[in-house]
Amino acid sequence: MVSVAPLHPEFGARISGMDLHVPLTTDQVKTVHDLIDRYSFLCFPDQSFNDARQLALTCSLGEPEENHVALGQRGVISYFGIIGNVQEDGSKLGNRDRHVVFSTGNNMWHTDSSFRPVPSYVSIMCVYEVPGEGGHTQFVSTRSAYERLPDALKTEIEPLTVIHDYVFSRSKVSPDAVTPSHAASLPPVRQRLVRTNPRTGARNYYVGSHAKTVEGWEEPDSRRLLDDLLARAVEEEHVYTHPWQPGELVIWDNRTLLHRGTGYDADRYRRYMRQTRVRGVSTLEEAQAQ
Ligand SMILES: [Fe+2]
Repeated sequence: MVSVAPLHPEFGARISGMDLHVPLTTDQVKTVHDLIDRYSFLCFPDQSFNDARQLALTCSLGEPEENHVALGQRGVISYFGIIGNVQEDGSKLGNRDRHVVFSTGNNMWHTDSSFRPVPSYVSIMCVYEVPGEGGHTQFVSTRSAYERLPDALKTEIEPLTVIHDYVFSRSKVSPDAVTPSHAASLPPVRQRLVRTNPRTGARNYYVGSHAKTVEGWEEPDSRRLLDDLLARAVEEEHVYTHPWQPGELVIWDNRTLLHRGTGYDADRYRRYMRQTRVRGVSTLEEAQAQ
């Protein structure tokens, strides 16, 4: 029996009564997709998993997305990304390590893979180690934010296309944060600003740190709109802060949620989570299907 306990008035649920380490039935897969559409953020505590089980779950929800760092830097296809400061060999990196500094880019509000032509549907996180303090992740719903917009603004943003650019967002962390091959693998892409869930009809807007400019707009106007939409979404009362627990598995909807890390002291603490992603659909094609 699956039970659902909401985590925040606008989105998020803790799900019990479903073991994700065994192959899901067709009905269970449908249930998870339905829960994603409804709650956007699903936390499954006390799960038993390893990489094989995580990848099997990922594939049951769709097509796994290649990790863009491994692909862009080394030409390697891997479906896993490490979130935190622990490496594959178990060693810990400190605050000044290049990888840890680079990962502070995730402390800006963003949605995963919005810089890819076909962005992510969901991210799946398996939690192994968490810091003694800090290291949380905050989430907001741009579906709720869209609903709060004045009608005139909804109308204004309806037809807009936004350029998302990974090199742009990471240049805020460090000018040479992205290697030449990685940068070449991720040219700027066009994304529709307003998205519609094809199954539910729910609408939201798609912004975040990778959103660089509104196509066809002057830079100041563009920045003003994108910053305003982001600011409206992340007002404090709309933020859910997730305190990670080892053993939990979390799935979040990258179509409708923005998230950011809160930071932690990598010199003192270990943080180790493994992330996979399920490929979504082109926002341009999604819009044409409406
Ligand atoms: Fe992220």
